[in-house]
Amino acid sequence: MKAMIRDVEKHVGEEITIGCWLANKRSSGKIAFLQLRDGSGFMQGVVVKETVGEELFKTAKGLTQESSMWVTGVIKSDGGRTAIGHEMEITAIEVIHEAIDYPITPKAHGTDFLMDNRHLWLRSKRQHAVMVVRNELIRATYEFFNQEGFIKVDPPILTGSAPEGTTELFHTKYFDEDAYLSQSGQLYMEAAAMALGKVFSFGPTFRAEKSKTRRHLIEFWMMEPEMAFYDHEMNLEVQENYVSHLVQSALTNCRAELELLERDLTVLENIKAPFPRVTYTEAIAMLKEQGFDDIEFGDDFGAPHETAIANTFARPVFITHWPKDIKPFYMKEDPENPGFVLCDDLIAPEGYGEIVGGSQREEDFEKLRAGMKAHDLDETGAYKWYLETRKYGSVPHSGFGLGLERTVAWITGVEHVRETIPFPRLLNRLYP
Ligand code: 4AD
Ligand code: MG
Repeated sequence: MKAMIRDVEKHVGEEITIGCWLANKRSSGKIAFLQLRDGSGFMQGVVVKETVGEELFKTAKGLTQESSMWVTGVIKSDGGRTAIGHEMEITAIEVIHEAIDYPITPKAHGTDFLMDNRHLWLRSKRQHAVMVVRNELIRATYEFFNQEGFIKVDPPILTGSAPEGTTELFHTKYFDEDAYLSQSGQLYMEAAAMALGKVFSFGPTFRAEKSKTRRHLIEFWMMEPEMAFYDHEMNLEVQENYVSHLVQSALTNCRAELELLERDLTVLENIKAPFPRVTYTEAIAMLKEQGFDDIEFGDDFGAPHETAIANTFARPVFITHWPKDIKPFYMKEDPENPGFVLCDDLIAPEGYGEIVGGSQREEDFEKLRAGMKAHDLDETGAYKWYLETRKYGSVPHSGFGLGLERTVAWITGVEHVRETIPFPRLLNRLYP
């Protein structure tokens, strides 16, 4: 019977066959230990010469790293020695394809080499674990928003507009017209919220940012919820409940992966809503108090500033009410604090930086129009439709965007976002 490694506990005492690859191997004159992987997990296979005979033992000993094969054997408990809890007493091996000179050997390799071999590096235990956590966060996202009554909406990727400013756009031709790859689906999500109430998207976004940091990708995936009739405060509550749900889901469903990645689980266990909140103005004061003299009121925060604030709380922290001048045109001005907008950045602890950006949106036609004018956006062209959403039954509404890769990096404890997406697009890297 064919089975997968993740299901072996259902087959204790039975003989099963798995399609797999050889991850690693060690052997003596009498016994060979094969590290098998089939995508669903990793498991040890044991080949005992005395039991299987000369020929099969010779085959096992001669197997090369990453060769593919059908392996048959009996499943038994390994006494909890490994995450999967079981091993296989191998009775037959049928090699499918022999891999010669697999480049990623068990010894240590440099990052550039591994990135050049990303298509193979993905097979390693650590990368496998990160991808499983990434998948769990995607699953938990759909679970959370479906439970909360949101409808999934898919905004376009080829667009004529630029919600986050025009400097970081990937330009392309759309037949005879100019077009851009989406840097955020937000404007479309706002229109969708007016049709469907509470909506969320999950898709790729593109930023031609010349940033080479551990937090920046050129192509990344964003979750963008948008809610009609939600104000700033309600928006923050959705964000903290959602992020808590992501962390707790990973803890529940990916414990083995997080342990393999040597993540400090006690840190994650404390990530529960509500999250602390500071205003931008308070954050500036906190930084001054901590001795930062390279930041002035009106500046955007750099990585060291974000890290200092988040580390004060050891939990994700909202920085709210930013100066209007340094935020995008669509944010609603705080009626009680002119010059500031009803927005938030959610900063993850441990140096992972901003994982969420959100705001209440300006719903007043004339104010939004003035904001667009101030940002040189053409209200008769690519943004005409957006302005129109404020013409017919405009309502207060809010939303946010969560960057998947930064969230995966933080939850897994992986240092750099390049390991949190299967094929990262980085400055100077379009391969593989
Ligand atoms: O703060 P940002 O730019 O917000 C927006 O795009 C809003 N329109 C979202 C909305 O309200 N619907 O981006 C949101 C998040 C950031 O907090 C960060 O997690 C991630 O997207 N992000 C990046 N992740 C990886 N690489 C980059 N270059 C990123 N830029 C933003
Ligand atoms: Mg932001």
